[in-house]
Amino acid sequence: MPWSGCCSVLLVLSVCPLVVCLLVSPCPPGCCCLRPGRLVLCESLGLRSLPGAVPLSTSGLSVARNQLCNVDHLLRPFSGLQELSLSHNQLARFPRGLPPSLETLQLQENRITYITSGALQHLGNLTRLDLEDNRIRAIQPAALWGLNRLQVLSLKGNQLTSLPAKLPPSLTYLDLSANCISALDLLSMSPLVNLQIFKINSNCLRSVPESAFDGLPRLRSVDLGDNLWVCECDILYLYRWLLSGRLKMATDLVCTEPIHLAHRLLLNLSVVAICPRILMPNRGTKVDLSSPSLKSLNVPRHYRRTGQFCE
Ligand SMILES: *[C@@H]1O[C@H](CO)[C@@H](O)[C@H](O)[C@H]1NC(C)=O
Ligand SMILES: *[C@@H]1O[C@H](CO)[C@@H](O)[C@H](O)[C@H]1NC(C)=O
Repeated sequence: MPWSGCCSVLLVLSVCPLVVCLLVSPCPPGCCCLRPGRLVLCESLGLRSLPGAVPLSTSGLSVARNQLCNVDHLLRPFSGLQELSLSHNQLARFPRGLPPSLETLQLQENRITYITSGALQHLGNLTRLDLEDNRIRAIQPAALWGLNRLQVLSLKGNQLTSLPAKLPPSLTYLDLSANCISALDLLSMSPLVNLQIFKINSNCLRSVPESAFDGLPRLRSVDLGDNLWVCECDILYLYRWLLSGRLKMATDLVCTEPIHLAHRLLLNLSVVAICPRILMPNRGTKVDLSSPSLKSLNVPRHYRRTGQFCE
């Protein structure tokens, strides 16, 4: 019923010349136009190019599940376009020349391999960006930096090996799961002051650097499961952080190394099992024995009382 809304308005005025309808609100063949002239859905039509006759006033357009390879500059004239889905197509790179009015952009299940720093520069109104299940190996530093309104970013299921540098501070939701990120570097984490939900499960993390989560005051959920956790001294920051009130966030961290602790749950282990050299004074570990977790759980009482190791 592409034109029904338009025609019913005109019928009230006792005129419904089809030609006027078409001029006011054409709908591309095969597409479905809801709220005529505003929301145009052209999904699963086998399209190899964008449909013609999409009204320039369209604010929401989906051309998901087609065979589009390139839409560069073709959407620029849609100066009121706020929501765009190009998901499940064959785009090999981030589309150029998208309208700056965009607020939601869905690009999941394409073939994008990298994001250059200029690609999103003009998309300052973007609040949600979905790049899930592409083949992204690299994001140039600061490629997402100017996106001052971006709150939701998914890069799940790509081929990243490090955190993207200079993510915008506006982010509240960041999904980096199912990549092979091997380190959480502090410089990349530090801007994320508004982050509430962080998914970094199914990556290649072996440890978390000291104070990695300390600069994320709003964080209320972090998924760390299915990584390559090495349950040795370096992991004690994460261990302590989880035990000091964040237990509900991640209890399922399984050690892969050292061999004798493989398959054990990190949080089932004692500090001494994780870091035996904690018992050897003057070996320079950074373990802080006054931290809450050590006090409450894992340090035998006589160690706590004196603050020193006696054996
Ligand atoms: C960006 O959003 C603001 C506030 O919602 C709006 O006034 C402005 O026109 C938008 N920019 C573009 C390019 O659409
Ligand atoms: C963790 O500890 C509990 C209770 O002590 C035990 O039942 C469980 O088998 C342990 N799990 C692993 C994977 O070590």
